[in-house]
Amino acid sequence: MTAIVPPPIDDGAPHAAVPASPARATGGEWSARYGASLLGIFSPSRVLVRGEGCYVWDADGRRYLDLLAGIAVNALGHAHPAWVAAVSEQIARLGHISNLFASDVQIELAETLLRLVGAGSEGRVFLSNSGTEAMEAAVKMALRTGRRRLLAIAGSFHGRTLGSLALTAKSAYRDPFGPLPGAVQFLPFGQIDALAEAVDTTVAAIVIEVIQGEAGVRTQPPGYLERARELADSSGALLIVDEVQTGIGRTGTWFAHRNPALVSGDVRPDVVTLAKGLGGGFPIGATLALSGRAAGLLAPGDHGTTFGGNPPAAAAAAATLHTIDSAGLIAQAATVCEDLAGAVERCGHPLVAGVRGAGALRAIVLTEPVAARVAHDALDAGFIVNAVSPEAIRLAPPLIITEDQAGEFVAALPDLLERATPRRVCPPPATERTLP
Ligand SMILES: Cc1ncc(COP(=O)(O)O)c(C=O)c1O
Repeated sequence: MTAIVPPPIDDGAPHAAVPASPARATGGEWSARYGASLLGIFSPSRVLVRGEGCYVWDADGRRYLDLLAGIAVNALGHAHPAWVAAVSEQIARLGHISNLFASDVQIELAETLLRLVGAGSEGRVFLSNSGTEAMEAAVKMALRTGRRRLLAIAGSFHGRTLGSLALTAKSAYRDPFGPLPGAVQFLPFGQIDALAEAVDTTVAAIVIEVIQGEAGVRTQPPGYLERARELADSSGALLIVDEVQTGIGRTGTWFAHRNPALVSGDVRPDVVTLAKGLGGGFPIGATLALSGRAAGLLAPGDHGTTFGGNPPAAAAAAATLHTIDSAGLIAQAATVCEDLAGAVERCGHPLVAGVRGAGALRAIVLTEPVAARVAHDALDAGFIVNAVSPEAIRLAPPLIITEDQAGEFVAALPDLLERATPRRVCPPPATERTLP
């Protein structure tokens, strides 16, 4: 059979008709082609071509220790053999089907998630492709209560599609796209009294991140989620906990809302959303309805997806969950990151105010707004970290990170901080000043 080769397109545009092989292009050439072909929404700093374990390599052959894991995604690092095998075997056996059919892997994944989150027999799962989609389903559940008021928290980030954007606090993200669905009220971060004041029987849902990752890894104060549960119970509102960033072992337990260091007591949300670490790098999101009431809110036809939870994505998630569990990665990553946090705090550099967060989701808090400079220099030095705010450097490494790898970063940090330290030019003493 002859291969069908499309004719080269030559419309005078600066796009290469036949893409060059990755081996032949430099990072600079790839970046130029990126700028000429992709929307200018992101500003990627490097073009990456390979990953293995906790390391990735760019197009110029430079190696980086990945302390961000694709923003809390690559739980097993890059190209983990169990994950690669699971996805490859699944694709070879059965790839995409539609939602007109179910798959064995999808069902097993849903069962595993319900078991992990401790849902009873009434629990149900909706599988999608991303965090924002997991939240969209949760928003629809909330609106299906018949109520329209949604309570979200200042600093929240729940995604960029319109339903989840409505719950996202940052006005720069929201304002160009209003009016957004639902009647969302943002409550001041961490103020239990303000929460209690806002909740009444018109509230459809209270939406909370136990740790706000995008706001700089900020943890809700003790008692906050517990009180939210009580208020949801007394008012008939749903309690939705967004664990897109904090879930799947990121904070030292499978879910942040089950972490006794963060939430005391047995708080059962009505809805928990997951994505990021769930697929270990394969796109998948999940909306877990824990209560029977939440599970019954969406009627047939209320929601849907073509790809959500398709067999390769479900296999990737199943392999990720199984490997995290069997290799004890949650405890291992939490210990390594606790030690890393302690070492950073003890380094004594004046730029370090402290380290926030839990498990393998941390932020080095700086005394000056120089996080972007530190992250930039860290990249040049071979470390991927993230300036999540002007004063905070986020670390969310693969859960397979070792003490030695964390130690590489700790050893490099003082120099990175030193280079980022603002040099204040003092005026010369009065006697030395030259007169105009
Ligand atoms: C807490 C939280 N919710 C939702 C999202 C949106 O996820 P996604 O980017 O997969 O749509 C994010 C992404 O950063 C997140 O951190």
